[in-house]
Amino acid sequence: MSERGASSSSSRESSPPHSTEAGGRSGGSSSKRKKKKSVSGAQSGISDLEAALSGRKTIQVKVNGRVYQREVEPRLLLVDFIRDHLGLKGTHIGCDTTNCGACTVILGGKSVKSCTMFAVQADGEEILTIEGLANGKQQELHPIQKAFWDNHGLQCGFCTPGLIMQAYWLLTSENPNPTEEEIRLGISGNLCRCTGYHNIVKAIQSAATMLRSARAQEQVVVTAREGRR
Ligand code: FES
Ligand code: FES
Repeated sequence: MSERGASSSSSRESSPPHSTEAGGRSGGSSSKRKKKKSVSGAQSGISDLEAALSGRKTIQVKVNGRVYQREVEPRLLLVDFIRDHLGLKGTHIGCDTTNCGACTVILGGKSVKSCTMFAVQADGEEILTIEGLANGKQQELHPIQKAFWDNHGLQCGFCTPGLIMQAYWLLTSENPNPTEEEIRLGISGNLCRCTGYHNIVKAIQSAATMLRSARAQEQVVVTAREGRR
């Protein structure tokens, strides 16, 4: 399951060193003893590293408004924690190399590629994933989800959760009224291999309009309420 990347590096580290015979037969017995000593020193270093890597840690995170406490290995990636430990499969894995943005989530108010950090680094943080956008109400899409739907901002849909989360961050934390260029720049870390981005940009423009008008309506309600006091 989860420990791709980190686990492969760990298994590389635990293979026996290949250099014990370096120098061939020219060294005498004392040099052989020295080599033996340094090999056993290296092996104990490797064991320490393995012990440190496998030492589990308890973390607590709030994801989509719900608090989770789990014991995890320090090498577990955040995206694998979200998908495999919390069962939230809406966050996708497209590359595992910080390239495609399919794993984008909002962590502590910032958009992050969750394949780029360890779950233990998220300890104590608040995370929003695609499942939390519409509060789990399937019939009530978030305006950004609705805009993607209405503007056909997706084809296969693999990149869509990441793009929607990135658009959410852009419109709610960065720039509520972005130009087309600013939208393209804002989603430049998210790759889509189907759509050519045109309808994605249209969807984000439309979502920006919807969110602005929702905010304006909220403001009217607040002002009216305050006027009645
Ligand atoms: S899976 Fe994280 S950037 Fe591609
Ligand atoms: S819709 Fe297929 S990768 Fe974006």
